[in-house]
Amino acid sequence: MQAVKTTLTRLLGIRVPVVCGAMAGGTNVRLAVEVTQGGGFGFVGAAFIPPEKLREDLSFVRDSFPDLGQKPLPIGIGFIGWLLDTKEEAAKQLIDVVVESNVQALWLAFGNDLYRWIEYARTTSAGTSSTRRPLIFVQVTSVEEALLAANEWKADVIVAQGNESGGHGGASTPSTFTLVSEILAALPGDNAPPVLAAGGMANGTQVASYLTLGAAGAVLGTRFLLTPESPYSDVQKKTLLAAKSGSTTRTLALDYARGTYGWPKGIDGRGIRNKIVDDIDSGIPHEIVREKLTKGTQDGDADYMVTWSGTGVGLMHEIKPAKDVMAELHTDIVRQLQRSQTLLQD
Ligand SMILES: Cc1cc2nc3c(=O)[nH]c(=O)nc-3n(C[C@H](O)[C@H](O)[C@H](O)COP(=O)(O)O)c2cc1C
Repeated sequence: MQAVKTTLTRLLGIRVPVVCGAMAGGTNVRLAVEVTQGGGFGFVGAAFIPPEKLREDLSFVRDSFPDLGQKPLPIGIGFIGWLLDTKEEAAKQLIDVVVESNVQALWLAFGNDLYRWIEYARTTSAGTSSTRRPLIFVQVTSVEEALLAANEWKADVIVAQGNESGGHGGASTPSTFTLVSEILAALPGDNAPPVLAAGGMANGTQVASYLTLGAAGAVLGTRFLLTPESPYSDVQKKTLLAAKSGSTTRTLALDYARGTYGWPKGIDGRGIRNKIVDDIDSGIPHEIVREKLTKGTQDGDADYMVTWSGTGVGLMHEIKPAKDVMAELHTDIVRQLQRSQTLLQD
């Protein structure tokens, strides 16, 4: 199968311009390793795990790539800025572990002051024996954020996350197609960092369409939840399989039920619409819905469970190993790029 060359694949040394998004609660090192071994690049969305647990996880990654030598660990770790802000010392320790372990990429999103963490990753004295610092991926939900990340923060990669995305994102962010187009128009030229499209994708045909738009690659999240490797529960996976594109909604209700109130202004989340959203919208106190959520999660009741999902879910019909998902995406991307050439005639 032909490799697909973009600025992203060159930067990361991969064959397929597909990234598994950093999904807190939806990813783990097993999934990230499988995505990378399948030709793409896998991220782990890390919330506040103890630094020792992160170190242990990263040693699993090192064992999975026995021939690496001095090369960086070919996966990425993602953190959520506002959560890092709440526990500064613990956050620094986690970033130190990432740098010391020579992880290839660090993904940052949803912070009121993300730059402090970028700067910390670039200047911490941890990891002086590493061959280099992690590449910085910054997830953005507007053109303004993209300009800041590229021009001021010198991010290595911009992840343009559109409205269709699963999990958290901008409440008034335009569609992925519009956002990527706007960011590419605002960041022209060879010196601009690679821009990745994120949100609403289920297959390689869609990825290829973003490549022809000018994106250097695509981030898929929800698709990788439907793998045996993802830590999403069986009930959450079943819920996703049964969902249509119209089954999701953007809301803060799921966060209110969970008690996660710290998201920066303008951020909400896209998930499967269920009774939690109805209850919160109808004014039932958050604490009461929280009790139903705790019980629902224990009992496997999809109506009182949080299942983040992008709109691409309507095109997802099976659970299969991440490596097989990567192989299918690769085949579809190549086929679609070849097909698009037939549109040209002399
Ligand atoms: C379960 C879940 C958890 C997520 N957690 C994070 C996160 O911790 N940090 C982040 O930047 N994005 C997070 N996202 C967004 C993904 O990184 C990615 O941008 C998104 O899933 C792409 O949209 P898609 O799901 O439609 O493919 C999450 C998404 C999902 C579905």
